[in-house]
Amino acid sequence: MEFPFDINHLFSERVTVLDQNLAAGRKSVGRPDLQAQITTVIDELGRASAKAQQLTAPITSASKLQSNRHQLYLLKDGERNGGRGVIVGFLKVGYKKLFLLDQRGAHIEAEPLCVLDFYIADNLQRHGYGLELFDFMLQHKHLEPVLMAYDRPSPKFLSFLSKHYCLTESVPQVNNFVVFDGFFLNRSAAQLRKVPPKKPDGEIKPYSLMEREVVRQEQKALPWPFAPHLSPHRSVSSPCSRSLSVGSSPSRAPPHPVHLPPAPGGNRGQNPQSPHIDSCRARRTSSLNRSQLSFH
Ligand code: ACO
Repeated sequence: MEFPFDINHLFSERVTVLDQNLAAGRKSVGRPDLQAQITTVIDELGRASAKAQQLTAPITSASKLQSNRHQLYLLKDGERNGGRGVIVGFLKVGYKKLFLLDQRGAHIEAEPLCVLDFYIADNLQRHGYGLELFDFMLQHKHLEPVLMAYDRPSPKFLSFLSKHYCLTESVPQVNNFVVFDGFFLNRSAAQLRKVPPKKPDGEIKPYSLMEREVVRQEQKALPWPFAPHLSPHRSVSSPCSRSLSVGSSPSRAPPHPVHLPPAPGGNRGQNPQSPHIDSCRARRTSSLNRSQLSFH
């Protein structure tokens, strides 16, 4: 994504982490001109991401970033555009308090780091940039992808998670977030709080408040589960057939089944301790080491 200003001047690092302050290093602090350029970049990316996901309104913008405790990882390619650089994409994450269901259907309160928005420029997708950005974030947060929650992941993102991190088996939820097998296993008891079963119905919010929800409310449409056939439930029962039915909010296009390519060797019915997952981890670890090298 090209801009009419020098991206390399604005962002010195290949990956820049932005937060509420919208500051890319010290250079942009107290510089309204540079702050305006950063705002332009974020707003443009947010619009492109919404378009790619068929959302009717962006869930990422500079003003939203300023008013939330989210972090936005921005990836540039400094060599393109005659040396002025281009923005390749972004990944937005943030902590959310969620009420989740574990494998046995018990209500669990957790506050995981969530992937809220993720976009790589259309012409640069499937070139490994998404993986580079995601791996950077994982290293920065010292986190494993299985411990994260995913806000209504798109079919492309589900395929990405399956391919790169072997995340295929999700635990069905009644909200828009997707968590995978191992989310509840690999987390310390202190991070998960069982919600007392005797609570009156109204006390457990079926949704966490989230930006996609706000977008939806802005559209004044009935939220799931009141809107029929829009359940965000998604459970990948067979990674080999990989027929993922991804529910869609009214802010997205109508749901359509997505057929993912089978993983190399297939991994039907395997658990997180399986040899396939181990080999996947080994693959990812060596890749992480590679990217660690490239970032230092
Ligand atoms: N169709 C299906 N799978 C895809 C596609 C596609 N068009 N593009 C990427 N993928 C998945 C595949 O698993 C692919 O592997 P393959 O080529 O062997 O099939 C893998 O991603 C490629 O990995 P990367 O090259 O590292 O990923 P990329 O740079 O394309 O980034 C991303 C992935 C961010 C999902 C990108 O495709 C994108 O921006 N898509 C449009 C926006 C989107 O759907 N964002 C996620 C929203 S949901 C959320 O943010 C919670």
